[in-house]
Amino acid sequence: MKVGVLGSGDVAKVLASGFVKNGHEVRLGTRSPAKLTEWSSINRAVVVGTFTEAAQFGDLIVLAVKGTAARDALELAGESNVAGKPVIDATNPIVDAPPVNGVLKFFTDLDESLMERLQKTFPDAHLVKAFNSVGNACMVNPRFQGGKPTMFICGNSEAAKATVREILDQFGWETADMGKAEAARAIEPLCMLWCIPGFLRNDWVHAFKLLA
Ligand SMILES: NC(=O)c1ccc[n+]([C@@H]2O[C@H](COP(=O)([O-])OP(=O)(O)OC[C@H]3O[C@@H](n4cnc5c(N)ncnc54)[C@H](OP(=O)(O)O)[C@@H]3O)[C@@H](O)[C@H]2O)c1
Repeated sequence: MKVGVLGSGDVAKVLASGFVKNGHEVRLGTRSPAKLTEWSSINRAVVVGTFTEAAQFGDLIVLAVKGTAARDALELAGESNVAGKPVIDATNPIVDAPPVNGVLKFFTDLDESLMERLQKTFPDAHLVKAFNSVGNACMVNPRFQGGKPTMFICGNSEAAKATVREILDQFGWETADMGKAEAARAIEPLCMLWCIPGFLRNDWVHAFKLLA
């Protein structure tokens, strides 16, 4: 697929190179392409440009920016450039404040997730929550003694979720589809839970698995 990754942080870089590794064509978008010059020299297959260029290029979009900037980043990408496309939403609504006893603070509440806010603002984009509740080091083809980890996803478009499920399959994950956009109210806080062992014990290598 042609993939447009919005973001220049660790998540954007890891997912961009993960898509290349799994045979996709990738453009990465940022407000400041120059800051990725060194990274680009190592990751030559990823074309770095603006948010708009990445969004125009992608048939699949990945939103991997700071939660507080997610709406601005999609606006810079251009509403028409994300319309009708699956948008993997890896963001979390984390405030700019330190965690308390290892627990991050969110700017949303349990009755409205960040993804729902973004979906309302960009009604024609097919947002799918994924990759938000695992650290970037474990996102692409992770290996755990406990077997394949589970990625919890949700979104209003069944077709977009089917696309994301195929990607997750390639990236070594089993998928648990939790339904429509409202389920992001439950999936986004998994990020808080995932981070607690990291902040308390510097343990950042784990993932969730749904047992049946
Ligand atoms: N770090 C992880 O392991 C991890 C794991 C799961 C989920 N997440 C989530 O994934 C997202 C990305 O995390 P990250 O750690 O890779 O990076 P980050 O530091 O949270 O975000 C960096 C990105 O945010 C963009 N940004 C910041 N302010 C902006 C603004 N005013 N307008 C537009 N864009 C702006 C930056 O754009 P420029 O490129 O233009 O500077 C950059 O691309 C976050 O929502 C985070 O909660 C992170």
